[in-house]
Amino acid sequence: MELLRGAGAGRDVVSEIGEWEYRMSGRFAGRVVIVTGGGKGIGAGCAAVFCQEGARVAILDRDATAGTATASQLTAAGPGTAESFPCDVAEPTAFRKIIDDVAAKWGRIDCLINNAGIHPPATTIDDTSLDMVDAVMRVNYLSTFAGAKFAVPYLRKTKGTIVNISSMTAVLGQDRSSAYASSKAAQVGLTKSLAIELGPQGIRVNAILPSNIDTPLMHEWAATLDDPQSALARVAALQVFGRMGTPEEIGRIALFLATEDSSFITGQAIEAEGGASLDY
Ligand SMILES: NC(=O)c1ccc[n+]([C@@H]2O[C@H](COP(=O)([O-])OP(=O)(O)OC[C@H]3O[C@@H](n4cnc5c(N)ncnc54)[C@H](O)[C@@H]3O)[C@@H](O)[C@H]2O)c1
Repeated sequence: MELLRGAGAGRDVVSEIGEWEYRMSGRFAGRVVIVTGGGKGIGAGCAAVFCQEGARVAILDRDATAGTATASQLTAAGPGTAESFPCDVAEPTAFRKIIDDVAAKWGRIDCLINNAGIHPPATTIDDTSLDMVDAVMRVNYLSTFAGAKFAVPYLRKTKGTIVNISSMTAVLGQDRSSAYASSKAAQVGLTKSLAIELGPQGIRVNAILPSNIDTPLMHEWAATLDDPQSALARVAALQVFGRMGTPEEIGRIALFLATEDSSFITGQAIEAEGGASLDY
């Protein structure tokens, strides 16, 4: 079993220890995590980190192709397993059904990571339609509220956790992104209020506020600009490390917030920003 604790342990050691022990190794072994938007980007990074720790990972993504591809890749790498549950989390009825299905299939839910989100192109308030505000709030905020509401009955049983992927824009704002930034701030208000309400019931609720992370969303945003490469370089330079974060770096913070290592932390907005907000 020691072999598996080191970085880079892989499927080649399975025959030495047996499939069952391999699948049961890791800090989230025997536990279930739901990751919304887990098919790509930060969600896929979270799914990978939990899978490496032996979790059963439910990937809820409206992009069924990405969800299935990520799930098979992670299951092949092990030791945990991942399964794709195609779902638009902005549709509360569908979202509730999938949460119930995951709990029925795997018997428990230990962590919900509300990660799915969209960032519309930058527009002034004059050019931002109320329909756009509504769409952004539904994906980024309503789904976070709904996911928490529907998962809480299961999380009460496991004394589980909720991790909401917000953004540094929640506290710093973002030019011509008022709908996006306010949806992310709403997630933080929800995180703190639920932490107060659910703490006495043994459920911890925290948020992660990333600055710039190298994901498909980031590249889609850059592609809308005149010079995508220099835009990406400019964004990388905002962090004191001179680079963007990786999805797995956010995944490791989510793992910390989901395990007993963070048992005295709740209601916090963890700024994962590579020093981007320093030295104003
Ligand atoms: N990338 C960054 O720099 C950054 C920074 C701060 C916060 N965030 C936040 O992190 C989260 C993930 O961002 P990302 O950069 O990984 O994005 P991404 O676009 O690269 O990946 C998002 C995934 O979520 C899925 N998704 C989107 N809407 C969905 C819906 N309604 N139902 C189900 N799945 C849906 C997409 O299909 C995709 O697989 C978002 O909430 C975003 O606001 C990202």
